[in-house]
This record gives sequence, structure tokens and C-alpha cells, in this order.
Amino acid sequence: MTKDSLRKFYVWFTVLGLLVGGLVVLGYYRDEDREWKDYQRKYAQEEIRRASNPQQRALAERIPIQIRQILLPDLNRVDRCTTCHLAVDDPSYGGYPQPLAYHPLHEQHPVEKFGCTVCHRGQGRATTAADAHGNVPHWDDAMLPLKYIQASCGKCHQAADNPGAPELARGQQVFEESGCRGCHKLAGVGGLIGPELDKVGARRSPGWLKEHFLSPGTVTPGSGMPPQKFSEPDLDAITLFMLSQVGETTPGYYASMKVIPGVAAGQRLFQEKGCIGCHSIAGKGGTIGPALDDVGSRRSPEWMMQHFREPQAVTSGTVMPKFGFTEEEARALTDFLVHLHEQNVASSLPSAMNPVERGHEVYRNYGCAGCHGPEGKGGVPNPNAKTAQLVPDLIHVADGYTNDELKERILKGQREITPLDPNRPQPPLYMPAWGGIIKDAQVDDLVAYLMSLKPKGEESGF
Ligand code: HEC
Ligand code: HEC
Ligand code: HEC
Ligand code: HEC
Ligand code: HEC
Ligand code: HEC
Repeated sequence: MTKDSLRKFYVWFTVLGLLVGGLVVLGYYRDEDREWKDYQRKYAQEEIRRASNPQQRALAERIPIQIRQILLPDLNRVDRCTTCHLAVDDPSYGGYPQPLAYHPLHEQHPVEKFGCTVCHRGQGRATTAADAHGNVPHWDDAMLPLKYIQASCGKCHQAADNPGAPELARGQQVFEESGCRGCHKLAGVGGLIGPELDKVGARRSPGWLKEHFLSPGTVTPGSGMPPQKFSEPDLDAITLFMLSQVGETTPGYYASMKVIPGVAAGQRLFQEKGCIGCHSIAGKGGTIGPALDDVGSRRSPEWMMQHFREPQAVTSGTVMPKFGFTEEEARALTDFLVHLHEQNVASSLPSAMNPVERGHEVYRNYGCAGCHGPEGKGGVPNPNAKTAQLVPDLIHVADGYTNDELKERILKGQREITPLDPNRPQPPLYMPAWGGIIKDAQVDDLVAYLMSLKPKGEESGF
């Protein structure tokens, strides 16, 4: 071959190569396109079939076959899901096969304002079902299985207040009761033995989480996390709660319903704002303001709302603070007080007057139960620790410690425990130092609580 013909050969070769490449790419896009175009044609056909007069029919025949998208700058999203899910906002498509069905919850969350991925996750810009639903490599935000969809409600709503998200509320409760904070920080509160959980829902899948709860050591060899004994519903609930921790907060309008007004929200606010310091319910609480048990029969809801907005304007000279509640918060508190006589809430309100009850709250809030068991009853394994194979229970501390010694023990903790066998991987659990983490007055309450745990009828050993 001459030099010249060689060059020609190269040129042809390159052109041919480009052509083949181009065809492959074209074919790929054709295929990708077909999927959504098929759904749009089906939808158009259905609209034509439903048309009951010539105008409607003409309109239906002009439905364009094109990509549809919802732009959501405030949520930093572009969602094209409605390219296939074409009738999410049309109730007359209720019960149709997917992707053409009407969407539940639409009235509260109109698609043009919310899009889809803020709740479902997945890949908003994609136009094939597989890519959009996110079950593809190199896309780590797969769509949430519907079973866990309530995990998303917490981005904008307080979990415990949301009547539409009972599973999320349950998950939060399981989290608080299981002592997870003993080892993990969430929203800044908790221990340091395990990783922070604020964004765990963005880095772990449902399957990973479930498996890890049942057997941390299998999933993360050498893990110091004790296996959790959850019932199946609790396991799903705590998994859902973990999935809700994605570290994403929503702005402006989207956060405007943070508190969904209702009895649950009212009770939470009542506790958080310390109303009990001045008011009593069922005989528990302060006496600076009137007892509130039957305030619902004494005052109208309108009176209460106005009193929350401007206490001074309603009762001049009152010492009741103006808390600066939002309208939703005032509505929630009013709801709570109006329904007070119907609920058995008094027993669940922590009494500001009783150190033992307050101490119990501290025990719960800082996750002591994660290592010492609920109510200090023990039973949590401490594999490979030299001292004992179980983390000690705390129901007998009254026998071995004075109040001051116990306080000292909690504040100082114990930094290291020698492993029994240095060749075995599991690091033993140690008692964290709580000084600087729990406030001094709260440690006093904690001591009062722990001292009260001694089973009744047992003689003191001293
Ligand atoms: C190319 C068309 C297409 C696109 C784009 C698409 N979907 Fe789908 N979707 C479907 C089809 C078809 C089904 C029913 C079959 C299935 O479950 O895969 C479906 C089902 C679903 C389901 C029900 C799953 C279940 O478990 O029952 C959800 C939820 C969903 N889609 C959400 C989304 C979201 C969110 C987006 C955007 C990120 C999206 N879809 C984009 C075609 C699509
Ligand atoms: C506010 C949160 C939220 C938004 C926004 C949202 N969804 Fe949903 N979606 C849900 C919930 C919750 C369910 C489960 C409802 C149920 O059946 O209990 C659901 C269910 C579904 C289903 C399955 C319905 C069924 O009955 O099988 C599909 C498909 C779906 N959504 C698609 C979409 C698409 C497409 C969008 C955007 C146009 C969207 N969703 C926007 C919360 C949301
Ligand atoms: C991106 C933020 C966002 C997400 C995620 C979200 N919501 Fe909402 N939700 C809102 C906003 C904002 C409103 C108020 C809408 C309005 O009135 O304009 C609302 C309203 C509601 C209401 C009605 C409240 C009332 O009393 O008026 C309910 C119930 C509700 N949402 C339940 C849910 C559930 C269940 C989920 C999870 C599946 C969810 N929301 C997810 C923002 C969100
Ligand atoms: C005695 C201490 C301890 C307690 C109690 C504990 N954990 Fe852990 N946890 C750990 C340690 C250590 C790790 C890191 C090793 C691993 O992945 O298992 C961990 C890891 C995790 C992870 C994986 C985090 C990630 O990003 O890899 C999750 C999720 C988790 N824990 C959730 C919980 C929840 C929920 C509870 C309460 C039910 C709990 N843990 C109780 C010590 C603990
Ligand atoms: C990460 C696990 C862990 C957490 C969380 C934890 N502890 Fe401990 N705690 C231990 C271990 C392990 C010991 C035993 C230390 C030893 O053997 O000296 C211990 C010992 C104690 C003792 C001494 C018991 C005795 O019989 O001498 C007290 C009291 C105590 N912890 C209280 C608490 C309180 C109160 C909290 C919550 C604020 C708490 N612990 C949280 C692991 C933990
Ligand atoms: C510093 C003490 C103080 C705090 C804290 C306080 N209040 Fe009051 N509250 C009062 C006093 C004093 C009155 C009686 C005078 C008046 O009507 O303002 C009162 C009156 C009321 C009344 C009307 C009772 C009646 O029978 O007329 C309601 C309802 C009420 N408070 C609710 C609350 C709620 C809910 C909170 C917590 C968000 C709260 N208060 C916090 C001192 C307080």
C-alpha cells in the first residue's frame, strides 16, 4: 500500500466508525424515547375515547407528544416524572394502571409546587422508568420503596404531628426509647461511640439498615453496636426513621406547615415551652397560673387563640409570657387544651416538680438505655470486655454508691476498657464521660432516678 492509499484507508475507516457509533447512539435514544412516547399515546387515546363532544375530541387530538417537566428552583429540582405519570392531578384517573393513575394526597401537595422526587427520591430528570426510579448504577438516590415513603414527610413536617405519617412517628419513638443516643449523635445530641446519624438515610439503603440492626457485626465486622431485638413492625419503623435522616431542610413555603396543627403538636409544644412550670394538669405542675384541666369549658377557642397572640391585651398585667407562636402553633396548643378532658395526657406529661421523673427523661434523652437496657435493667452484651461480658445493670447502684459518688461516676465515665483478647476485633463498650454533655442539674435528677430504681422489698447490702 502506498502512503496515500493508506491515508485514504484511515479516512474511510474513521468515517465508517463514526457512522456506526452514531447509529448505535441514535438507536439507543429511539428506544429510550419509545417508552415514554408509548405512555403518552395511550394517554392521548384515552382522552380521545373519553371525549363526549367534537370540541373535546379536537382538544384531545392536539395533546402534544413531548417531554413534560416541573421546574422547582426552591427545591433545587427538575422533575420529569409527569412525562409518563400523566394523570397524577386528575381524579377521574383514580385506579388506572400505572403510570396513568391519579395520585393520592394531591390536594395538600399540588404537583406543580412539589414535583415528585422531594417525596419519592429517584432521578427527576430521567425519561426512562429504570433511570427515573433510580435502580441503575452510578445513581445513589434510588426511589424509596413505597413502604418507606413516609420517611420523606419529615423534611417539611414535624414527625410526631403528622396524621399522615404514623410510621415515621413510631420510628422516632422507637429511636428515643431504644437508647440509640447513648452512642450516636442526632441533631447534635448524643454520644460519640458510633457515627453521627444526621445524614445516614442518604448513605444507607433500607436493606443495609435492616440487616445491620439485626446483626451489626456481620455487616460491619468488629462493630461495637449491640444487635437490636426489634419486633418486625418496630424494625420497619426504625429503618424508616433512619431513612428520613437525609440532612435536607426545605425553605420558605415548603416549611410553612412544619407544625401540622393538632392535639399531638399541641402536647409537644406544651411540654417544650414549659407551660407546666406555671400551670398544672391533673394536679401536676406549677400554681402561678390557673389549673388547665377544664379550661376548655371556661374559655372559647377564639379566646385562647387571642390570649396566645397577646396575653397582655386579653388579661392586662398577666405574667403569662407572649411566646411569639406562629398561627399553626397557637392552633395546635388550643386544640390540645380544648381536647384535654378527652385525653389521658396527664400521665404522660413530665412533672416539673419531681426529680425522679425528670431524671427518667434524662435517662431516655441521652440514650443510657442503649447500653444499660430500658429502665436500667441491663442485658446488653459487651463482647470481649475484660470486666464483664455484659454492660452492668443499674438497678442496684443505690447499694454501692453515695449520691456524690454516683454523680462523679457519670460525669467522669471510663475512657478505655482492656479487651479480653487483643486479637479479637470487637472493641468493648466503655462508659462515656458525660461531663460537659449533660447539664449539672440534669445529672442530679439522673442520680435521683437511678437511686430510685432499687427493686422494692430488697434489703440494702450495707
Ligand atoms: C418512562 C416512564 C416513567 C417515568 C419517566 C417515571 N415512571 Fe414511575 N412508573 C412507570 C411505570 C410504567 C410504572 C408501573 C410499573 C413499575 O412499577 O415499574 C411506574 C411506577 C411508579 C411507582 C409505583 C411503584 C410501586 O412500587 O408500585 C412510583 C412511586 C413511581 N413510578 C414514581 C416515579 C417517580 C417519582 C418518577 C420521577 C423521578 C417516575 N416514576 C418516572 C413509568 C415511569
Ligand atoms: C408529598 C409527598 C409526595 C409527592 C410530592 C408525590 N408523591 Fe407519590 N406518593 C406519596 C405517598 C405518601 C404515596 C403512597 C400513598 C398510599 O398509597 O398510601 C405515593 C404513591 C405514589 C404512587 C403509587 C400509587 C399507588 O397507589 O400505587 C405513584 C405512581 C406515585 N406516588 C407517583 C408520584 C409522582 C409521579 C409524583 C409527582 C408528580 C408524586 N408521586 C409526588 C407521596 C408523594
Ligand atoms: C417539601 C415539603 C413537604 C413534604 C416533603 C411533605 N409535605 Fe405535607 N405539606 C407541606 C406544605 C407546605 C403543606 C401546606 C400546603 C398548603 O396549605 O398550601 C402541607 C400539608 C400537609 C397536610 C395538611 C395539613 C393541614 O392540616 O392543613 C398533611 C396531612 C400533610 N401535608 C401530610 C404529609 C405527608 C403524609 C407527607 C409525606 C408523605 C408530607 N406531607 C410531605 C409540605 C410538605
Ligand atoms: C453501644 C453503642 C451503640 C448503640 C446503643 C447503638 N449503636 Fe449504632 N453503631 C454503633 C457503632 C460503634 C457503629 C459503627 C460500626 C457499625 O457500622 O456497626 C454503629 C453504626 C450504626 C449505623 C450505621 C451508620 C453508618 O453510617 O454507617 C446506624 C444506622 C446505627 N448505628 C443506628 C443505631 C440505632 C438506630 C440505634 C438504636 C436502636 C443504635 N445504632 C444503637 C454503636 C451503637
Ligand atoms: C456506650 C455504652 C454506655 C452508655 C451509652 C452509658 N454507659 Fe454507663 N457504663 C457502660 C459500661 C461498659 C460500664 C461499666 C464500666 C466498667 O466496667 O467499669 C458502665 C458503668 C456505669 C455505671 C457504674 C455501674 C456500676 O455498677 O458500677 C453507672 C452508674 C452508669 N454507667 C451510668 C450511666 C448513665 C446514667 C448513662 C446515660 C447518661 C450511661 N451510663 C450511658 C457503658 C455505657
Ligand atoms: C410565667 C408563668 C406562665 C407560663 C410560663 C405560662 N402561663 Fe399561662 N397563664 C399564666 C397566668 C398568671 C395566667 C392567668 C392570667 C391570664 O389569663 O393571663 C395564665 C392563663 C392561661 C390560660 C387561661 C386560663 C384560664 O382559665 O383563664 C391559658 C389557656 C394558658 N395560660 C395557657 C398557657 C400555655 C399553653 C402555656 C405554655 C405555652 C402557658 N400558659 C405558659 C402564667 C403562665
